[in-house]
Amino acid sequence: MSRPYNVAGYREQARRALPKAIFDFVDGAAGDEWTMRENRAAFERRAFLPSVLRDVSECSLATTVCNREMASPIMLAPAGLVGMMHPDGERAQVLAAREHGVIAVTSSASTYSFEELTDAVPDHRPWFQLYPYKDRGFYGEMVSRAANAGFTGLCLTVDASVSGKRERDLANHLSVRPLRVTWGNVTGAARHPRWLAGVLRERRIVARMSTEALGQDRPTLRSLLRSAGDSAANLVELLPRQSTWEDLEWLRDNWSGPLAVKGIVNPEDARHAARLGVDAIVVSNHGGRQLDGIPATFDLLPRVRGAVDEHVDLILDGGVRRGADIVKALCLGASACMVGRPWVYGLAAAGVSGVNGVLDILEEEMATTMALLGVRSVSELGSSHLA
Ligand code: FNR
Repeated sequence: MSRPYNVAGYREQARRALPKAIFDFVDGAAGDEWTMRENRAAFERRAFLPSVLRDVSECSLATTVCNREMASPIMLAPAGLVGMMHPDGERAQVLAAREHGVIAVTSSASTYSFEELTDAVPDHRPWFQLYPYKDRGFYGEMVSRAANAGFTGLCLTVDASVSGKRERDLANHLSVRPLRVTWGNVTGAARHPRWLAGVLRERRIVARMSTEALGQDRPTLRSLLRSAGDSAANLVELLPRQSTWEDLEWLRDNWSGPLAVKGIVNPEDARHAARLGVDAIVVSNHGGRQLDGIPATFDLLPRVRGAVDEHVDLILDGGVRRGADIVKALCLGASACMVGRPWVYGLAAAGVSGVNGVLDILEEEMATTMALLGVRSVSELGSSHLA
């Protein structure tokens, strides 16, 4: 298969590689998928205003997020259960992030355990995504386990108190809470022999596909539950339905490393989070997978930027498919962008080399865009570069 030259090409290869139900789980969103489409449309509505005759012989994408140097302003968003896409799973996420000198934020619904992920990249520490839990014992154990494994930053996802209504999953009879992936709803598995061989080779994924209990499909959480003496079934009670600002406050008091809060779009919430001392806000609508009807994050970014002090990094998440999108977000005050589906498409298409391929494309597109705008470094980007 030829190497795609854009993210859309990786999406197409992922579509061919995966059974329909699995592809739809990645590609789909909640409700009418309006928010997901808007995330894209907002980037398309905003045009560039270049400055010509500038020396752009040297162009750097390097930046810092939460005082950490990164080779480019791209972060790999948390994406759970990606072992279903390819046996490399989240290991591909951390390996590609290390290769590219950027931050991977691994999901608490990972196919691999905390330690398996950090052991894969001993010289490059990823961040860990978690949800706010009322049960302080469980919450605390999750934080100390992440710290002991070597995760250096935490990302608290706050827009998933319940699951969004994802109609493609309903149509495909695919249930994620609790996970219910059966050979029945992965119809046509035989038509995807490479995918089938991959998941059969990786025993953990087969185990996952035959389980129905939420706790059993999350090795990270399952091992914690075991040590907490809790039953897998009770994990449902631990879902963040009852979470409040106190849970963020608690986390700030109990974690001294970089702390990002993901899923904020309301300027008032952004102010509140900044007052509680978060280092970064991920301006995110979960890629449209949760509440359908939220405007595009790119459209909301300036209002959130205006609400919080410059020392709080804003990370834009949702709809990024081009290096040019990242440049536009930086022009409006983002420090970096997260990409979710793009790296998962790369993973499904070609494992770790596919995730690397997606990052290569985004970086090359960013560098070309910046040179054509007449800009040599990301710190030069501002609203004057947008029409
Ligand atoms: C996600 N996302 C997500 N977010 C999170 O905080 N925890 C999680 O476990 C997951 N799981 C997950 C699985 C899959 C398959 C996808 C596609 C996404 C949301 C993700 O972090 C991010 O917010 C969106 O993907 C951003 O939108 P784009 O880049 O996909 O348009």
